[in-house]
Amino acid sequence: MTDTKKSIHGQWSSRLAFILAATGSAVGLGNIWKFPYIAGENGGGAFVIIYLLCVLLIGVPIMMAETMFGRRTRQNPINTMKTLSEEAGADKNWHYLGWMGVIAGFLILSYYSVIAGWASAYVLKAFTGSFFDADASEIQELFDGLIASPVQLIFWHSLFIVATMSIVARGINTGIEKAVRFLMPSLFVMLILLVAYAMTTGSYDQGIEFLFMPDFSKLTGDSVLTAMGHAFFTLSIGMGAIMVYGSYLPKDISISKTVFLIAGTDTAVALLAGMAIFPIVFASGLEPAAGPGLIFQTLPIAFGNMTGGWLFGVLFFVMLVFAALSSSISLIEPAVAWLVENKDMDRKQACIWSGWITWLLGLGTVFSFNVWSGFRLFDRTIFELLDYLTANLLLPIGGFCIAVFAGWIMKQQHSEKELDMPNPLGYQAWKILISYVAPAAVFLVFLHVVGVL
Ligand code: TRP
Repeated sequence: MTDTKKSIHGQWSSRLAFILAATGSAVGLGNIWKFPYIAGENGGGAFVIIYLLCVLLIGVPIMMAETMFGRRTRQNPINTMKTLSEEAGADKNWHYLGWMGVIAGFLILSYYSVIAGWASAYVLKAFTGSFFDADASEIQELFDGLIASPVQLIFWHSLFIVATMSIVARGINTGIEKAVRFLMPSLFVMLILLVAYAMTTGSYDQGIEFLFMPDFSKLTGDSVLTAMGHAFFTLSIGMGAIMVYGSYLPKDISISKTVFLIAGTDTAVALLAGMAIFPIVFASGLEPAAGPGLIFQTLPIAFGNMTGGWLFGVLFFVMLVFAALSSSISLIEPAVAWLVENKDMDRKQACIWSGWITWLLGLGTVFSFNVWSGFRLFDRTIFELLDYLTANLLLPIGGFCIAVFAGWIMKQQHSEKELDMPNPLGYQAWKILISYVAPAAVFLVFLHVVGVL
């Protein structure tokens, strides 16, 4: 702990530690649970291409900006925006951006935790042999049974919140670094093995075609927004999570290289998940547009019918829960860092408060799958509404503001110094993307969705 800032502000022990933690934040349910089902709902290939473009042209430059903001000030996102706007002589209202991020973090974690709860429930199901020899309809019943039960969902949701908060309470070096170091590589290997299994289903080509052959006629304005929103969600950007991780980053590390590595790994995991899941979908006569239950209705079929499937199934869901944990801690870290730095709470107290709030909010999602499933606001259940509000609106709006600040408000010599790219062309490219391309793209997609374009 070389830093002089108070209490929480430790530092990652190395570049690798930051890479692992930020990759841990990026890789999560978004890659393995969400990406396949939204790709399925939005027709596959064309959606995937838009998503990849958004990651490269909008996501990567914004991720670099966020990391740089945090590292420059070494404070939580709210104070970061305050300090940076003072430094640039800009309006101090910019710190509301930090606030928006804290709120988005609570809202996302509230439903993230419920879905991570499903994954935890599946660890137990896999362990007790529930998938053994099961066909698609039995697996479907298993899933329907789980989400119909508020008691079970609340149990797993509570467990996940407690687990998240106990890791966060320990601080960055001990809790987060250790967990991720071993789990990330293992998850990667398991996904590759699952893709190998998918090759034996007889529907591999069909799955791959669905995922990679673009049919732009299937693309609607809302699918473009969903693809863009997902680029933010999957990279954990637009709400300060990466900013707060950047604030623990030692000064001598290259932000650009690190960000490319993280974004590349994140994308690879999502594509591998898709390549494992869609062949199983087609081989079992399932619907690609089955919605949020997609992986829970497909992968167990594979585990139930392959050799070694019992062990493999248990391990897979354990990994998924850990991938979710290393993401969820970054969702709540901005709020916790703020409570500690500005409200003089100790870390533990801050975690207890944040945990309760998230837990309560999460009940909305729990009930949206059963007792309140008929309730619709703007044509959406509570879960769908939270997902849309955060991933499709708050994160892109947050990202837009971050891009504008980095491109237009922050002094050029400051961003140049922080990014410190070996090749001057690299900085120029970043500057164009962050000042023009990223903000314009977000703006145009929004205009398109509200029907102006
Ligand atoms: N990126 C994670 C995933 O793909 C979710 C996540 C963690 C996140 N931290 C975030 C999303 C911050 C948005 C903002 O599962």
